Amino acid sequence: MRDKIIAGNWKMNTTVDDAVKLATEIKARLTGFKDAILLICPPDVNLYPVQKIIEKSVIKLGAQNMHYEKSGAYTGETSGEMLKSIGCDYVIVGHSERRAMFGDTDVVVRKKLQAIIEHDLIPILCIGEQLEDREAGKTEKVIDSQLNAALKDVPTDWMEKIVIAYEPVWAIGTGKTASPGQAQEVHKFIREKIGREYNPNLAEETTILYGGSVKPDNSDALFAEKDIDGFLIGGASLKADSFEQIARSASS
Ligand code: PGA
Repeated sequence: MRDKIIAGNWKMNTTVDDAVKLATEIKARLTGFKDAILLICPPDVNLYPVQKIIEKSVIKLGAQNMHYEKSGAYTGETSGEMLKSIGCDYVIVGHSERRAMFGDTDVVVRKKLQAIIEHDLIPILCIGEQLEDREAGKTEKVIDSQLNAALKDVPTDWMEKIVIAYEPVWAIGTGKTASPGQAQEVHKFIREKIGREYNPNLAEETTILYGGSVKPDNSDALFAEKDIDGFLIGGASLKADSFEQIARSASS
């Protein structure tokens, strides 16, 4: 059975006080939750204080980014060893905001993915089309090429560790969610591609998350789709009650 994951991407939000408060509240609301893996991804400066709050709970810690080099003169960057040393389990890679604003090209994404796996962390690989791609009927073509670039020469034993997040760029932070049918169609396409290029068992075991304006009022319908295994949540993960309500979609 593949993992279900409910992940909160806090992006560049929360002071240390906000982060501690939010993590404490999420922990209290979801004590003993077993229906999915719960993951929160605070900004780097808040990883350690948040880890102190959640370390004995069911909630796991993720980072929003990681550099591919081991250490050295890379001002402003964070290494895999650093993330590992504070108890991170997951790292988001290839998020469309990083691709659009911080130079995370396909080549950089591929290097980061490799470094994440080499540090025994779990990558959440984000892919997704722009609105104009969708309108031009090119969604599958874009997804296919992003996957080809990120997974170039990725062996089966690495692939077993990778979580994929389908995040249509036009749905991120816009309030426009992909309909359950639209999301399912792309998730199925991704799973079938993994089945063809690796093997059907691995495709069945791969966790594929949806992200893009997930809210408590659309999460049940999205989760009901066969190939949607959870969510990568931005805005709605910054409130403990909405994060909890979305997480509870995994129980129904
Ligand atoms: P959103 O962000 O839920 O605010 O649309 C999702 C994401 O960027 O991961």
